[in-house]
Amino acid sequence: MRVLFVCLGNICRSPTAEAVFRQQLSAAGLDAQVAVDSAGTSDWHVGKPADTRTRLAAQRRGYDMTALRGRQVQVEDFSRFDLILAMDASNLAELQALQPADSHAQLDLYLRRYQLALDEMPDPYYGGEEGFEQVLDLAEQAAACLLAEVRGRL
Ligand code: 4NP
Repeated sequence: MRVLFVCLGNICRSPTAEAVFRQQLSAAGLDAQVAVDSAGTSDWHVGKPADTRTRLAAQRRGYDMTALRGRQVQVEDFSRFDLILAMDASNLAELQALQPADSHAQLDLYLRRYQLALDEMPDPYYGGEEGFEQVLDLAEQAAACLLAEVRGRL
């Protein structure tokens, strides 16, 4: 199974979702069975490490994001991934517009899929520290739900 997380810049929300889910997969012993990646709808931060505030907040909770680099969603992603999870409604709309007619990838809003407190992952980029903590809180809750779904599908 292959899962792709998508946000706007691929330096805050989707790489956090990726790092948190990777850790939960690994703890469950399922990392060899599920491929995980993240990408942005924009090309603004291609090749760049995750946002410093994102990396430091993640590091405080034991997630290592140093190896991650920004990349933009490509048309090939719609054939490579089974499940493409958008962080907000605007990311989802962009993905729906890009999806080729012959792609069987399932697109969804990550938090809404699991009926968490919010439907969308709030963009922390222009806000304060608490926004990065909130992204981590939501990513941890959603990853547990996604892990349960993956267990059922494997
Ligand atoms: P992300 O956050 O989509 O969660 O990676 C953002 C990163 C960069 C920008 C906006 C949002 N930006 O305007 O450069």
